[in-house]
Amino acid sequence: MMRTKLVAGNWKMNGSRAQTDSLLRDLRAALDGSPPCEVLVCPGFPYLQQAGELLAGSGIRLGAQNLAVEDAGAFTGEVSGPMLADLGCEYVLVGHSERRSLFGEDSDTVAKKYVAAQRGGLKPVLCVGESLEEREAGTTERVIGEQLRAVLELAGVDSLASAVIAYEPVWAIGTGRTASPEQAQAVHAFVRGLVAENNGIIADSVRVLYGGSVKSSNAGDLFSMPDVDGGLVGGASLDAQDFAGICRAGGH
Ligand code: 13P
Repeated sequence: MMRTKLVAGNWKMNGSRAQTDSLLRDLRAALDGSPPCEVLVCPGFPYLQQAGELLAGSGIRLGAQNLAVEDAGAFTGEVSGPMLADLGCEYVLVGHSERRSLFGEDSDTVAKKYVAAQRGGLKPVLCVGESLEEREAGTTERVIGEQLRAVLELAGVDSLASAVIAYEPVWAIGTGRTASPEQAQAVHAFVRGLVAENNGIIADSVRVLYGGSVKSSNAGDLFSMPDVDGGLVGGASLDAQDFAGICRAGGH
């Protein structure tokens, strides 16, 4: 199965109107009118509309970083899946490690957000990953298995036909300490194997991205691994040239 690589930029809580404008203009120019693989950018909520306008006709897709469990109602400060779809988002991150560790999202909440995304017509990018202590304690597979099973139990394996999984080891996020291609491949193969226990065809087609200190200088090696189907990029996605280089690595 040939899986088209996906390179996704997670801007996190960064940016301004001016930065959104220059970053997306520079990215379009750097990609020369046609993305070399599937490319996605996830700005903060206030910039989604502006980003959507700047990306029109570029082939670059728009996504958000989080969504509410509910679709509408008295949930002050929340942003729902239907609102994001209305703004032109195709994707939304769910269960990013920062949401889990800093904002108390457990695997049940993440599973509900995953379902809410699909109900709203969005493709969830389900983030999973272990902390350094969990890796050192040898519990990486147990942790990731629990994170993935919570979603499979609520949404069913077939839901992965319109979703993406992102493996982001917490110890590699924003630390400059990238997982080696072999370390990433081992976990990606485990994730795909877990999906295959439920449905072999879906396991073969679902994309599993790697995230954690991806840069244009290491993306090629990571993306050459058989089960690494692209990247979820934080810091380097704020630099148009670096991000474009990662996108090009996804095109080979
Ligand atoms: P960095 O690329 O900055 O390590 O961030 C990774 C990440 O968390 C993307 O979601």
